[in-house]
Amino acid sequence: MADTLTISAPADFHVHLRQGTFAELVTKHVREGGFGLAYVMPNLVPPITTTEEALLYKAQLQAIDPVVEYMMTLYLSPELTPQEIRNAKAAGVYGVKSYPRGVTTNSEGGIENYEAYYPVFEAMQEVDMVLNLHGEVPSSSTPGSNTCVLNAEPQFLPHLRKLHAAFPRLRIVLEHATTRAAVECVKALGDTVACSITAHHLALTVDDWAGQSWHFCKPVAKYPDDREALREVIREGHPRFFLGSDSAPHPPGKKSTAAPSSPCAAGVYTSPILLPLTAHLLESFGALDKLEGFVSTHGRAFYKKPAREGEQIVLRRTKSKIQEVWAQGADSVVPFWAGKELNWEILR
Ligand code: NCD
Ligand code: DOR
Ligand code: ZN
Ligand code: ZN
Repeated sequence: MADTLTISAPADFHVHLRQGTFAELVTKHVREGGFGLAYVMPNLVPPITTTEEALLYKAQLQAIDPVVEYMMTLYLSPELTPQEIRNAKAAGVYGVKSYPRGVTTNSEGGIENYEAYYPVFEAMQEVDMVLNLHGEVPSSSTPGSNTCVLNAEPQFLPHLRKLHAAFPRLRIVLEHATTRAAVECVKALGDTVACSITAHHLALTVDDWAGQSWHFCKPVAKYPDDREALREVIREGHPRFFLGSDSAPHPPGKKSTAAPSSPCAAGVYTSPILLPLTAHLLESFGALDKLEGFVSTHGRAFYKKPAREGEQIVLRRTKSKIQEVWAQGADSVVPFWAGKELNWEILR
């Protein structure tokens, strides 16, 4: 077994970098985790809905770590117009993220009816921007509804099929897929539809988050067979499936709540350990030879973002313990698998 692994230009195609002092803490963890590219989610408070805001946010992130390349996105909202899509494209914004109303952090202002957005999607298809879908239907309070976190993703898939049929040339990414149904759906659609998979969903099932708030994220981890489908598609080296960490930091007090009235924030934090963790997990299910495709080549091909010349990260097989907490000033954040051992570390 090889003791080092050289990976070309790892790229994280879905990450939450937050704002303010919290951003100063977590943005540096992109590089610490072995990544030189961050596809940045727009769900700030308030969300990033205009090109101007996206560029301002990008400048803030560059001021924190200028080495990482930030690909910016807009939050799909009723203010977004076809003209703003053209402005965004011209300014180098890459995608638009759609959140179903109410399903996840800061998504209360998100979408409820896709057809209202068809003129926006038409413009995106025309200028070749990417549509990033949080693929869950909103929870329903309608009496008799059987919708809940366990079936919200499968119930979303008809919307994905319909969107792809209406906009076959629009590049669509089904984000953070967690079910066999989603994997099969994306495989069956055309080359313009891809799927991101997180590291933590390769490890977790329902049993791991039921009663363990640090493992709670949206979409929630599902059945063992769903996890197996995610592992299989990576083992197969399917080119339209790639890493998007959905690394989503929250202050510890929001993850671990004693008060019955305050719910636990959704999100698992993997940025500072992302590449060693992903190597560790892929090796555990026999897919270490697919690591570079999964963390770099596949996503870069879909996003048309070739690696920069000479950019590579070397991993070394060494047992290393994951830090319990990262802190700066008054802010702190606890990583996934805090205190556990990984079999790989970055050679610096
Ligand atoms: C973070 C929070 O408050 O948990 N935000 C979020 O969930 N979108 C912190 C932040 O945005 O700075
Ligand atoms: O678990 C999650 N946390 N899922 C999301 O989609 C959003 C994210 C966040 O922003 O915290
Ligand atoms: Zn999402
Ligand atoms: Zn996310």
